[in-house]
Amino acid sequence: MHGMSKHVYIITGASSGLGAALSRELLSEETLVLGISRTVNKEIQQLAQDLKANYAFIAADLTQVERIEATLREIIESMDSSKVETITLINNAATVTPFNPIEACSSDEIVSSIQLNLTAPILLTSSFMKETANWTVKRVIVNISSGSGQYPASSMSVYCSSKAALNMFTKCVAMEQKKEGNPVHLLTIDPGMMNTGMQQIARESDFELAAYFRKQNEEGHLAKPETVARNIVLEISRHRDGTLA
Ligand SMILES: NC(=O)c1ccc[n+]([C@@H]2O[C@H](COP(=O)([O-])OP(=O)(O)OC[C@H]3O[C@@H](n4cnc5c(N)ncnc54)[C@H](OP(=O)(O)O)[C@@H]3O)[C@@H](O)[C@H]2O)c1
Repeated sequence: MHGMSKHVYIITGASSGLGAALSRELLSEETLVLGISRTVNKEIQQLAQDLKANYAFIAADLTQVERIEATLREIIESMDSSKVETITLINNAATVTPFNPIEACSSDEIVSSIQLNLTAPILLTSSFMKETANWTVKRVIVNISSGSGQYPASSMSVYCSSKAALNMFTKCVAMEQKKEGNPVHLLTIDPGMMNTGMQQIARESDFELAAYFRKQNEEGHLAKPETVARNIVLEISRHRDGTLA
């Protein structure tokens, strides 16, 4: 049904913040953007209609990790690979909570944070590779990281460690892919601090770093997600076309 799109983008967390900005930036007649999140963003659907762009929303809660493989399989099976030139998976969905010393975090919030931030991108990566193994197209996986993956912070141990692990995961799989005939190109991108719902949660939470996040906002240090999205799209095309040209 989406047979005419040359460039396919699967974006998690596409309903708001950076994921929504990336979706808007990528919509065109030549692309197919598949946005995965729990809630729909009707403005993006409308924009896609106005631009005659190919867009589909896939409702999924990525903390429900046992469903991820089947969800990705359905997405890939719905496409005609002979019409596709490139396919890119952008693992963007994440949660910054819980904000607490680890002994004050509930097991449920720890588990669901790790599932969304780490297990889901790992499973999506694995499934993406399996399902597109026979595709003779350029394949790219972008994992959205954070400075928090490098710099430890009190009351953010679950987020920081999930991002550090995602960085390491990406490096390991990139090493595996070097030996492949049609390797999947993997990269991590740290988008920097942006004015999104995630930052608002950080500013409004009751923990020691909230004042730091408020100050960053007041002093104008938060980038617009649209600006970051534009740079990420350029980086993806440079990486994709540069390495494989
Ligand atoms: N904002 C920053 O300053 C900053 C800095 C460094 C790195 N980052 C990274 O940038 C990425 C985007 O962050 P953001 O600021 O745009 O975040 P955001 O505004 O909070 O948006 C998060 C997105 O993830 C989706 N999501 C949340 N829980 C989900 C679930 N269980 N299943 C499926 N989707 C889910 C949300 O959609 P639904 O609620 O509809 O599911 C939403 O679309 C993240 O990886 C973040 O770690 C952000």
